[in-house]
Amino acid sequence: MSASRGLGTGGRLAGRLVALGVTGSIAAYRAVELLRLLTAEGADVVVLLSPSATRFMGPLTFAALSRHPVETELLELLPDGRIGHIVIADSADVIVVAPATAHWLGAMANGLAGDVVTAACLATSAPVVVAPAMDGDMWKHPATQANVARLRDAFGYVIVAPEAGPLASRQSGVGRLAGLPAIVDAVVAAVAGRRIRQSNAAARPPLATTPPREADLVGRHVVVTAGGTREPIDPVRYIGNRSTGKMGVAIAEAALERGAAVTLIAANVGVSLPEDRARVVRVETAGELRAELLDALFGEPGAPGAPETARFDVLVMAAAVADFTPARPAGQKLTRGKGMNLELQPTPDLLAEVARIARGLDSTGSATRAPVRPTPVLVGFAAETGSLDRAADKLSAKRVDLLVANDVAEAGSGFGSDTNRVVILDAAGGRDELPLLPKREVADRLLDRVAAALDERDAAGQTARMQEAQQ
Ligand SMILES: Cc1cc2nc3c(=O)[nH]c(=O)nc-3n(C[C@H](O)[C@H](O)[C@H](O)COP(=O)(O)O)c2cc1C
Repeated sequence: MSASRGLGTGGRLAGRLVALGVTGSIAAYRAVELLRLLTAEGADVVVLLSPSATRFMGPLTFAALSRHPVETELLELLPDGRIGHIVIADSADVIVVAPATAHWLGAMANGLAGDVVTAACLATSAPVVVAPAMDGDMWKHPATQANVARLRDAFGYVIVAPEAGPLASRQSGVGRLAGLPAIVDAVVAAVAGRRIRQSNAAARPPLATTPPREADLVGRHVVVTAGGTREPIDPVRYIGNRSTGKMGVAIAEAALERGAAVTLIAANVGVSLPEDRARVVRVETAGELRAELLDALFGEPGAPGAPETARFDVLVMAAAVADFTPARPAGQKLTRGKGMNLELQPTPDLLAEVARIARGLDSTGSATRAPVRPTPVLVGFAAETGSLDRAADKLSAKRVDLLVANDVAEAGSGFGSDTNRVVILDAAGGRDELPLLPKREVADRLLDRVAAALDERDAAGQTARMQEAQQ
């Protein structure tokens, strides 16, 4: 994903700027998925939240996924002095308000510009698509129906009518937010045949170069491995690697600052550790790391059996774990003698093993039991030299959600340096190429993605529970 995504990529909304207005409905969480569907169509999306909407969904998720600061405050200016909702009104190709509350419909029908969503709609000449969501009696009320009719007939807004079904009030009726594909189709139809209003990126809403970070990992348990393992040849010699642990420790520090409970499994790190704020476990070898990792994740050292519950929300495997270990380490210091042949055996692929356990698969990849709950977010690191092409294969082979690939041969990137240039690959095929950044900034960019993935996981869980309740 580049900063200019949405401009010139394929899809029915390629090159379009879509303003997504979200208001204070229980269905606000579905706006996250709507944002994804719009970006999948090639749109550049900027999000506006009413004050009530921010009580249902935090702006960080929308900022991280849209790559734009989220408009929430009517009375605040952009950092460059422009008025945010006017910039959006003037440059958006379409505004879609989903979900739209009864209150918002009333405010809009009467031209009350008390929040950024109504203000942007009043100020724009772009088409407006409105998808209401509310309790069935609220929807049927003559006031709501009159407001909807005014928006449709007097203002020319496209109304994507709510659907019938179970409602948050536990009653049934018409009022559920319309299906997201129908809303996307309405947005596509609204812009069809119109020219792109503003193709100059400088005149569009600003990009979020550094999205605001908040305590978005409170209540999450993040397990991070850092450093490099050492595999003993004899009591004084080992096979090691150049990892110092800087990247993993930066991730642990960033997660702590964002409110997470952190377990840091540190293998021979060369930097100071946040021992006062995190649970720090020191290990030496790949075998020790495996035992401590399985204990921290599933509560069972060694063979994990069949865990049902994950003790963690996120695993970031930043440690450089040895791929080989001496088959028979000597108990005594070896002498020079006439030289030696060292027999090595492969170590287990820890990340793939954790992913298999978490997803309920056996060693052949067959599903043998239920995946652990809550579904953890798994992040791997791939240190490559030269091309990063193999990284995408690693992502699918290891069944992880995110893979951070870097070329450790590049100057300023990789082992020991304070900076890193990485590409973050995701399971949906996305590729986010970050510039050369301080490792701490790389850590925060990665955790932006992790926090958004956790929010999506929770939203999906909420949807599943609501669907179960309907049956
Ligand atoms: C849990 C909860 C869920 C709500 N869901 C809805 C809803 O789906 N639709 C709606 O019109 N109002 C809903 N409301 C009421 C709105 O949040 C309230 O009218 C608010 O003032 C809307 O502000 P806004 O239109 O400026 O976003 C809900 C309130 C609560 C507490």
